[in-house]
Amino acid sequence: MGEIGIAIRTEGLTKVYRIGIRGTHKGIGDLTMEVPEGLIYGLVGPNGAGKTTTLKLLLGLLFPTAGTGEVLGHPLGSSEYKARIGYVPDGPYFYDHLNAPELLRFYGTLFGLRGPALEQRIAELLELVGMADRAHFRVHEYSKGMRQRVAVAQALLNDPDLIFLDEPTAGLDPMGAIQMRNIVLDLRARGKTVFLCSHLLKDMEPMCDRVAIVSRGQLKLEGPIDEVLQAGAGYRVRTTGLSAETRAKVESAATEIVGPDEEGVVVVKAADQRQALEIAGLAAGDGSEILEVGPDRRTLEEVFIDVVEGQAGD
Ligand SMILES: Nc1ncnc2c1ncn2[C@@H]1O[C@H](COP(=O)(O)OP(=O)(O)OP(=O)(O)O)[C@@H](O)[C@H]1O
Ligand SMILES: [Mg+2]
Repeated sequence: MGEIGIAIRTEGLTKVYRIGIRGTHKGIGDLTMEVPEGLIYGLVGPNGAGKTTTLKLLLGLLFPTAGTGEVLGHPLGSSEYKARIGYVPDGPYFYDHLNAPELLRFYGTLFGLRGPALEQRIAELLELVGMADRAHFRVHEYSKGMRQRVAVAQALLNDPDLIFLDEPTAGLDPMGAIQMRNIVLDLRARGKTVFLCSHLLKDMEPMCDRVAIVSRGQLKLEGPIDEVLQAGAGYRVRTTGLSAETRAKVESAATEIVGPDEEGVVVVKAADQRQALEIAGLAAGDGSEILEVGPDRRTLEEVFIDVVEGQAGD
């Protein structure tokens, strides 16, 4: 084995749900993937793609129809890894009449934590998720974002090495989504591995180190986020002061010209580096200011549409 540990590994992991007596429905099919330790890994895809199914297989809450996998070096479903993982479900449910410390005390006791050690852990976690000042609220008085944060605190009670979050930003406002992102980034900074599932591509894009795109129970694309966003995106030249004359000159080497925006910035896109440099040369020669020449990036949403459109009709 190499230096970098693998937190999760699956091979041909498949879950077929049985519906009624004869019916079946594919939850996830033939999923092979590796999640390196210490990264934020995002499983992304539309509703019904098989994200929660995959998560539940990894947690040992569902039994696979076929395939194998390991979590923290132990076979799927084994009790060996369960004390070292945390789980934030999609739409967490809590006892409504408790406040956050009471709730965390209850779950902490289930983990065998007690006394001052538990109280200190609860205080630390409420601070971490930004709930320290609202700890006295009862759960039924919480907003969705507050519930979500308490769920994260609950999942971290046992100081897990690997944390699973199902739709962590669903229902959160933009500020709440940013706070959730900061919590996740903070977990990575503490050396934890974070496995996220979401259909909210805009929330996932800035937080994942690696993504796997799934659709209709099938893995479509997997890789480091930068590679996924740059694949097939070509190059771009960002420039200002592009005259109509220069614009006409660079047009033949460009695949697309976007702008100018309010600041007068024009983005000229090219298929490859050579053409991008040619465009930059032409523009600079005519007195335009070149702000940047480099690989272009697509948004995760654009990549996703590309990948998922490829399956139309299947
Ligand atoms: N208990 C079940 N019985 C039968 N089919 C199920 C069951 N749970 C999920 N499915 C089906 O499996 C497929 C994958 O569902 P899953 O919940 O894993 O999707 P998801 O990617 O998490 O979607 P969402 O974004 O809506 O949470 C869907 O087609 C769903 O209808
Ligand atoms: Mg789901």
